[in-house]
Amino acid sequence: LDGSWLPLKQDWSTRWCTLPELYKQMCAKRIHNFETRESDVFVVTFMKSGTTWMQELAWLLLNQLDFERAKSCYLPKRSRFIENLAMKTPFIDTVAACEKMISPRLIKSHLPAQLLPREIWQEGRKIIYIARNPKDVVVSSYHFLNGTTLWKGDLDTYVDEFVNDQIAYTSYWSHIIDFWRMRNEPNIFFVTYEEMRRDLKDVIERLCKFLAAPSIKEEEMNQLLHHLSFESMKESNYNNLTGRLKQKLTTTEDFDLHSFSRFMRRGIVGSYKDELNIVHKEKLDKWTNAFLKEHGLIESDIF
Ligand code: A3P
Repeated sequence: LDGSWLPLKQDWSTRWCTLPELYKQMCAKRIHNFETRESDVFVVTFMKSGTTWMQELAWLLLNQLDFERAKSCYLPKRSRFIENLAMKTPFIDTVAACEKMISPRLIKSHLPAQLLPREIWQEGRKIIYIARNPKDVVVSSYHFLNGTTLWKGDLDTYVDEFVNDQIAYTSYWSHIIDFWRMRNEPNIFFVTYEEMRRDLKDVIERLCKFLAAPSIKEEEMNQLLHHLSFESMKESNYNNLTGRLKQKLTTTEDFDLHSFSRFMRRGIVGSYKDELNIVHKEKLDKWTNAFLKEHGLIESDIF
């Protein structure tokens, strides 16, 4: 996969994406050849960057702010995750589940640009891309993955493996900068988790335009902002995976309770400040600066 179909003006990043064998065997080719529809919208992120938050928002904008359904139907059913990474038993055919969705489909993926359905690029399908600062992603993904079968270990080891592109979906920076470079393409809505925390109303208004959704009246906006607040989403049985995944414990052996309780963890910008030590921070800063320098960028260009 040489990525030659991507609308990148400069070289795309060449680092490979680390994914479990299961994904490669079961769905890599099918995802690449996935047939898209004109009304499809893809929510793409490096994991733990605010995907769930954005899915809930975008789903509501695409569905006339149907709060009733949002509260009564589990988000991963309303907005499917196309690649199957962690679920071994029972096996769920996530690609087939996406194929069966009714339009407008909102599809989640953590895959890097070159591994996404090729038609996205050929047909200019809409992508909402959310980037989050790497130190918070490290902390958030460490807590999450450590409770799954995908990764086990301590934070020192995790930071080392993260910067050495050994964690699922890495290289982190390649993922981000490919989309950052495509941010002005008409089919790309590039936003950061930090912007969503800073001014969610502004992000909603811009996203409405991007999705050609009806503009939102003041009262509806207040309701939407309330619905999307960290506290409401944490409370909700439907958006917050915690409750649902807890149930899964009784049927699968792939996850443990510890990771579920950490899905909606802190929901803030800068949680790394009191969770990473100086050595971690220095290692991550050095890695960031070196990577971005190679591409003529600095971190504040993006965040
Ligand atoms: P933390 O682990 O830092 O708390 P994803 O959905 O991509 O897996 O991202 C999960 C991260 O987004 C978690 O970060 C989670 O708390 C945060 N998040 C989810 N919903 C949120 C909301 N409504 N407001 C703020 N942060 C939210």
